[in-house]
Amino acid sequence: MATIKIRGGQRLTGTVRVDSAKNGVLPVIAASLLASTGETVIEDVPVLTDVDHFADLVRSLGARAEHQPNGRLRLCAEQLTTSTAPYELGRKMRASIWIAGALLARTGHFRVPLPGGCNIGERPVDQHIKGFEALGATVVIEHGYVEGYVKGRLKGARVYLDICSVGATINTMLAATLAEGTTIIDNAAKEPEVVDLANYLHTMGAQIWGAGTDTIRIEGVTSLHGADHTVIPDRIEAGTYMIAAAITRGDVFVEGAIFNHLSSLCAKLREAGVEVEDNITGIRVRAKDPLRAVDLKTLPHPGFPTDLQAQMLTFLSTVEGVSIVTETVFENRFLYIPELRRMGVDVKTEGRTAVVEGVAQLSGAEVAATDLRAGAALVLAGLVGDGDTIIRDVDHLDRGYGDLVGKLRSLGAHISRSDDETSALHLVQAN
Ligand code: UD1
Repeated sequence: MATIKIRGGQRLTGTVRVDSAKNGVLPVIAASLLASTGETVIEDVPVLTDVDHFADLVRSLGARAEHQPNGRLRLCAEQLTTSTAPYELGRKMRASIWIAGALLARTGHFRVPLPGGCNIGERPVDQHIKGFEALGATVVIEHGYVEGYVKGRLKGARVYLDICSVGATINTMLAATLAEGTTIIDNAAKEPEVVDLANYLHTMGAQIWGAGTDTIRIEGVTSLHGADHTVIPDRIEAGTYMIAAAITRGDVFVEGAIFNHLSSLCAKLREAGVEVEDNITGIRVRAKDPLRAVDLKTLPHPGFPTDLQAQMLTFLSTVEGVSIVTETVFENRFLYIPELRRMGVDVKTEGRTAVVEGVAQLSGAEVAATDLRAGAALVLAGLVGDGDTIIRDVDHLDRGYGDLVGKLRSLGAHISRSDDETSALHLVQAN
């Protein structure tokens, strides 16, 4: 596992450009499986391990997926050879369940490893299954796999999601595109990535209305074709750099960040006294002390994103006063906190609530990333920690942040990465 070393104390300044959204690219790759003719070309695909694993997953089904040097991913699913995803690939990523809806619609069958719980929560897939069953599929869970099949075409239906789930909305939407008749998804997720997926499906020939609202309507068609697509900028990557600017009391222009996708973060940063400027091509964030403590609660979009909770809590730990952070989306998303405490963060947790008391100075320490966003939080703490911070297990960060070290360095951070633990430790001693 790789390590990152940071010498804290640099104020970040300059411009950083965000990549296309990881959580937008994955559903588009899944949706490309619906195309019985033609190629899909996704432009500006970020260099991330999750994208590589997803490309391997669709290849294992017989589809073509070629990375091209200019950041294009060329996909063709005209010839699928199987509708069973291998355990080894499926288990690497929870999002592999997202191929189920496309396979069911296209081939009448899917068999995908049942995703296990993970270190942010139990993460069941009952709502995905509810969607498939409403459209007429039979779904069984056996031998560690979830398997679904239907004789003939799926049939459009009204589906009420008990939980506003991004994944279940995406899977039901994918399945419904080729169903016979009308599907209505009530209590649908409104995340920008759901809207982006609907736009891509539209260019493939699907008929979808209402994406981005609580109710999505889909009129099934008999076939879809490949199409070109550029995915929206990554709001979580953008938000992480915005928070990096705030925590270092810096001045950073986050190019590509879309204000409407990040309105809850912008509101909370402003409440804390950070200057946030919507510049159409991006968002500029400037911060200087004194700042104010704020409370926040994670919620489905347009509420505060759970994927920015750890980063924001870390920022609040450097602001004078007491902030209360409540996690409502996942049941176990404070696992990173013990590592943050080792860096001097003063925080108490009770169930899904964390009470953070700002401290004057965080301290560098040797810590380990427990997951992708937790890793980002440790990097933020390291940027302002006194002395050196070494973060282990940073391969988690490669799942969602392209060239994190290069981007932060371009903003003035003293940060380096080593894929060999001994040389990272040596670097620290040498400095
Ligand atoms: C997606 C994102 C993830 C983000 C999350 C919430 C990707 C690859 N992942 O995950 O980064 O944190 O949205 O914004 O895009 N649930 C059920 N039953 C289900 C499905 C979900 O109970 O069938 C629960 C989950 O356990 C969780 C909540 O619903 O507590 C929200 O999950 P969901 O929106 O489905 O998240 P994902 O799609 O897995």
